[in-house]
Amino acid sequence: HTSSTAGGSPVSLTRFLLEEQRAGHVSADLRLLIEVVARACKTISIAVGKGALGGVLGDAGTPGVASMNIEGEAQKKLDVIANDVLLEANAWGGHLAGLASEEMDHSQPIPDVYPRGNYLLLFDPLDGSSNIDVNISVGTIFSVLRCPDGVTTPGDEHFLQPGTAQVAAGYCTYGPSTMLVLTVGHGTHAFTLDREVGSFVLTTRGMTIPEETKEFAVNMSNQRFWEAPMQRYVGDLLTGKEGPRGKDFNMRWVASMVADVHRILTRGGIFSYPLDSKCRDKGGKLRLMYEANPMSFLVEQAGGAATTGRMRMLEVQPTGLHMRVPVFLGSRREVEAATAYHLEHD
Ligand code: AHG
Ligand code: MN
Ligand code: MN
Ligand code: MN
Repeated sequence: HTSSTAGGSPVSLTRFLLEEQRAGHVSADLRLLIEVVARACKTISIAVGKGALGGVLGDAGTPGVASMNIEGEAQKKLDVIANDVLLEANAWGGHLAGLASEEMDHSQPIPDVYPRGNYLLLFDPLDGSSNIDVNISVGTIFSVLRCPDGVTTPGDEHFLQPGTAQVAAGYCTYGPSTMLVLTVGHGTHAFTLDREVGSFVLTTRGMTIPEETKEFAVNMSNQRFWEAPMQRYVGDLLTGKEGPRGKDFNMRWVASMVADVHRILTRGGIFSYPLDSKCRDKGGKLRLMYEANPMSFLVEQAGGAATTGRMRMLEVQPTGLHMRVPVFLGSRREVEAATAYHLEHD
């Protein structure tokens, strides 16, 4: 890790982005876009932090009639609040052509009353909903694409670009501290929110994921629903020193992807949400555009790897805005090992 301060003074997100612009890594519009998303995340962080005192816990909709998103998931109040905060913050800046969200059936072009820019923003406004009511870390995930040339009013089809086309991606984790982790294609960098000052401060420049690991993250309760190669892979992890892997593994599962990926970016590990017989018809549990692609971009930029178990995640051609995929990401050697189990089986 290189130093996170320049000349001894802390580097704010604003300064970091200006320097990235001078280095030719981001345009002025992309810089504004990231600043706006970061500001929205601060607002969400405040709402999350109020907990029961802010009246933000529990289900959205009227009692007994939970509101549902397009994927048939019951929405929590904070899913809806975070979505509204991100929509409102990004409508008027002039940097975006359109937005898409886990919580909206279709993408939305920027309303005609505002100028339209060249970027498309996709987000999972609140990741880890099942943890909201129990005071465990949740987060926001986002991905930025270019609006195709000549398109002034983007529709869903214009968002269906592979992860390699992302120009920026990041997440914000609302935990004991609030952190923003960001890539614009030149490394993965972590910022911590200084709550008194109200600004994100660079705390790790160039995060690097160790290549090897002894830690895995998976929802073990799904074991009997997994495919054969996944059963074999985890079986070998659990056999530990005596098995083919020759080392003992430890397990962690927060059930907030943001928190699990943040741990892996910080100290290594493999995260997996594989195909299972419950999510097989949908293609997987996690969403390509709002979860898998942005996290895979961040992980690759930190020296890690990300696959579907069969192919590089960032090369998957999306077929729908809410498309789901199996996910394996984290320490490079371990992701390669898990992927090999699947490829050898096929
Ligand atoms: P979301 O809250 O945005 O719908 O995403 C939840 C996801 C992800 O954060 C997590 O890794 C996974 O669902 C947890 O799944 P299980 O409930 O099966 O553990
Ligand atoms: Mn959800
Ligand atoms: Mn999510
Ligand atoms: Mn979500």
